[in-house]
Amino acid sequence: MKIVVIGGSGLIGSRVVQRLSAEGHQVVSGSPKSGVNSVTGEGLAETLKGAAVLVDVSNSPSFDDAPVMEFFQKSTRNLVAAAKAAGIGHYVALSVVGTDRLLSSGYFRAKMVQETMIKESSIPYSIVRATQFYEFVNSIVEFSTVGEAIRVAPILIQPMAAADVSQAVGDVALGKPLNGTLEVGGPKAYQMAELVKLALGSRAAQREVIIDPKMGYFGAEASERTIVPDAGAKLSSKSYEDWLSQQQAAAAAR
Ligand SMILES: NC(=O)c1ccc[n+]([C@@H]2O[C@H](COP(=O)([O-])OP(=O)(O)OC[C@H]3O[C@@H](n4cnc5c(N)ncnc54)[C@H](OP(=O)(O)O)[C@@H]3O)[C@@H](O)[C@H]2O)c1
Repeated sequence: MKIVVIGGSGLIGSRVVQRLSAEGHQVVSGSPKSGVNSVTGEGLAETLKGAAVLVDVSNSPSFDDAPVMEFFQKSTRNLVAAAKAAGIGHYVALSVVGTDRLLSSGYFRAKMVQETMIKESSIPYSIVRATQFYEFVNSIVEFSTVGEAIRVAPILIQPMAAADVSQAVGDVALGKPLNGTLEVGGPKAYQMAELVKLALGSRAAQREVIIDPKMGYFGAEASERTIVPDAGAKLSSKSYEDWLSQQQAAAAAR
């Protein structure tokens, strides 16, 4: 089966491409670096020709309100049109758990628009909403750093490994369209402050982690359970602690 992965060079996309290729499918990765641009439409028609499944795991180069909205609107409009023209039978897109609860953020308003355009496209679809990737936790620490201190909201976070997100996206791509949303998350919910301290490791002693209800999540208003999955989500098994140990072992071996 031919499967096109838009954003196939990214953190999730490269793993989805690897996983689906290993199962013997004809997988084509599309991204600007390979001449496929979902925002301009360049290369979409040729790439989608003969494909059965389209997987969109692209991301906007800018997270600022106007450019991110422009990215997901233009990209999804072009992908829907090209998918219809190519007779795609399953449109899979990756979104974020809690997107509909984070609409005070421009990024999540844009993800919501992406989801809605896909749902209204009349193409059979599946939306996978994942929690934050373990690989993204350092960006959360950076964003939350104010001077020498780290300020985080009293919220729960239930992150997961990019490898497990990719596995879930691959499983969904090979299944029947859900015409709905599947939530995926990690095995354990942490207080954001606890996760930040785990990420800092031995550096934690030198940094003050302050609980600040005003911080929200990346500037969006968030309460305790805003970014954790609902009951019924598919949970992966690799813990953040195990993932960190593996990262450290791999770094030491280099
Ligand atoms: N970060 C998180 O914790 C988290 C949690 C849940 C869901 N998500 C979602 O996961 C998705 C993938 O994230 P990621 O971290 O894997 O992204 P990433 O590593 O930043 O990769 C982004 C991909 O998008 C491609 N791309 C950029 N502009 C494009 C365009 N105009 N046309 C086609 N492709 C384009 C890039 O291609 P080039 O390499 O050619 O530039 C790259 O392959 C996002 O939609 C995000 O909302 C993220």
